[in-house]
Amino acid sequence: MFSVKTIVAILAFGAASVAAAPAPAPEPVASPAAVGLLAVQSAVRMCKDSEWRGDCKTVLVDLGVCTNISGDYNDKISSIENQSSGNTKCTWYIDGNCNGSSYSNQKDAKLQDGNGKFNDSISSFSCTTK
Ligand SMILES: *[C@@H]1O[C@H](CO)[C@@H](O)[C@H](O)[C@H]1NC(C)=O
Ligand SMILES: *[C@@H]1O[C@H](CO)[C@@H](O)[C@H](O)[C@H]1NC(C)=O
Ligand SMILES: *[C@@H]1O[C@H](CO)[C@@H](O)[C@H](O)[C@H]1NC(C)=O
Ligand SMILES: *[C@@H]1O[C@H](CO)[C@@H](O)[C@H](O)[C@H]1NC(C)=O
Repeated sequence: MFSVKTIVAILAFGAASVAAAPAPAPEPVASPAAVGLLAVQSAVRMCKDSEWRGDCKTVLVDLGVCTNISGDYNDKISSIENQSSGNTKCTWYIDGNCNGSSYSNQKDAKLQDGNGKFNDSISSFSCTTK
């Protein structure tokens, strides 16, 4: 599973490699460009049963891009969450192509609650910066 910490570690490693090259002026480890990269993706966890039970998977998506839920999870998700910390917001849609009714609770352990409209019916989602 990807996490923000993993991304930070990868970025820090990349910056360290650059700094290790025989360059006269070493770059700071946390350059503004590296910090900016933290906001380009979001991690979304989805499970076929409520309360994060049953089959689950986590997908890392680019921000601002609509992602269709792939075959075996399409119309089968009963719990879902945006796992990115703080700076992203995801919207879940009933139809493919981010079309149709939408919903944006960032963490819902039981989509069946309330009107239940989004239980076993999410087909696509997109995430953006908040
Ligand atoms: C909705 O979610 C519950 C709990 O995970 C599940 O038992 C139920 O079969 C789901 N589907 C529908 C169509 O209600
Ligand atoms: C995305 O999810 C994380 C973890 O549940 C949460 O801390 C964060 O606030 C969420 N983002 C928004 C915009 O709610
Ligand atoms: C997403 O699903 C819709 C149908 O719901 C389809 O028309 C569209 O081509 C799909 N997009 C991608 C990128 O697969
Ligand atoms: C979105 O849904 C509307 C209404 O059902 C439909 O007319 C339109 O073609 C859909 N657009 C896409 C991109 O799927």
